[in-house]
Amino acid sequence: MVSKRTEELLALDRKHLVHGFAVVGSEEEWPIIERAEGVKCWDTEGKAYYDAASQQTSNTLGHGQKEIIDAICEQARKLQFAHLLSRQSNVPIIEYAAELAKVVPPGMAHFFFNNGGTEAVETSFKLTRLYWHVHGKPKYKIISLQDGFHGAGLGAAAATRAGSGAFWTGYAPLAAGFIQAPTFYCNRCAFNLKYPSCDIICARYVEKIIKAEGADSVAAYVAEPVMGAAGNVAPPPEYFPIVRQICNDHDVFMICDEVQTAFGRTGKLWGQEHWPVSWDIMTVAKAINGCYLPFGATLLSDRVFEGLKGTMVWHGFTQHGNPICAAAAGAALKIIFRDKMVENAEKVGAYVLERLNREFKELPSVTDCSGLGMMLGIEVVKDKETMTPFDGAAMQKWVRKVLERGLYVRMALAKDYTRVRFNPPIITTQKEADEMLDILYTAIAELK
Ligand SMILES: Cc1ncc(COP(=O)(O)O)c(C=O)c1O
Repeated sequence: MVSKRTEELLALDRKHLVHGFAVVGSEEEWPIIERAEGVKCWDTEGKAYYDAASQQTSNTLGHGQKEIIDAICEQARKLQFAHLLSRQSNVPIIEYAAELAKVVPPGMAHFFFNNGGTEAVETSFKLTRLYWHVHGKPKYKIISLQDGFHGAGLGAAAATRAGSGAFWTGYAPLAAGFIQAPTFYCNRCAFNLKYPSCDIICARYVEKIIKAEGADSVAAYVAEPVMGAAGNVAPPPEYFPIVRQICNDHDVFMICDEVQTAFGRTGKLWGQEHWPVSWDIMTVAKAINGCYLPFGATLLSDRVFEGLKGTMVWHGFTQHGNPICAAAAGAALKIIFRDKMVENAEKVGAYVLERLNREFKELPSVTDCSGLGMMLGIEVVKDKETMTPFDGAAMQKWVRKVLERGLYVRMALAKDYTRVRFNPPIITTQKEADEMLDILYTAIAELK
């Protein structure tokens, strides 16, 4: 039983709202969040939840960060909006760009700002195609990973098979020219091989695809450094270096989708820093300002930026480079360093992974605990012998039960396996992580 107020809010929600990733007009009851602080949020019933999902891996810096809130208020009093389209700029976006340029991976200090992850990804695809177009090469195809997630636009969704292809059904025709390569999740090897005797065939297969499609038509390869929606899955160490070599050999760009991994999530400032590989384009959003406001960026390498010099870019968004979003991002960047959030993600993440491997791995349903930093996953199965996954609908009911116990977790968007994602805000202390894990342990132990 919920209060009259919550009931009324739920009725209004059902009447007026269409939610993403949910059934239209669903009669299900869900929490209506009213306030939040640190790594916890409270619903209209006053019930507290630990957020081990960081509100869709977005509230990475935690709730209530005073400096971000102050920066937003201060900027809103001075200049609320001035666009970047055509020949105009604004002060906060230039100041933010200069600060971001000091910390980006080498040679990546050219930015196209936008309003979130999907726009960052769409921009990366369009600028890639534009680059090859102005260089007189008809390269337009984009290779993504079968379980990857890149957003909801017609291009981003075309790159998002997300295991089941759920993001494709009903939306045809999506953007043309997208191809999927097998993913790098060793516990579920697409080739039924074992690492390392597999010779990292999943990486080498990218070359087969490029050759089959014709290198003169393949524009880019896109991947998340750690696959988030697929369950926080990191590749084996050789994977990206091999793919880089292949892409060099065939002059194919590599786009690093860091929408989930950027700004500390994996225990390094950039997810890509885990491998000695440079990328041509990268995308960031979410943690850029902790999702206090919609914001994102597409980062171009020197090669891409120089190669586009003199080209008219007929692409852009009214709100790209919004000054208030930029001010929030500037404040976020400062506190990420001041509060040593990246180091915290590395330290507490390592502690959590150790606990997962020591305690959770012993449970009858758990087959794999892995990931990087605060981006971890736990694969659960009905039967370890046959590796049979749990039924998706049953797992959604389980997620709901975990929520009733005061913990947000999410499941991987995968068809062939059931993997619990653990990615609390990167400010989470060891004590808070322990409390989250205690709830999770009991819930996973009950899985049958
Ligand atoms: C890796 C990745 N890319 C792109 C997106 C799309 O971002 P947005 O939802 O901000 O449009 C997401 C969203 O979760 C993501 O995880």
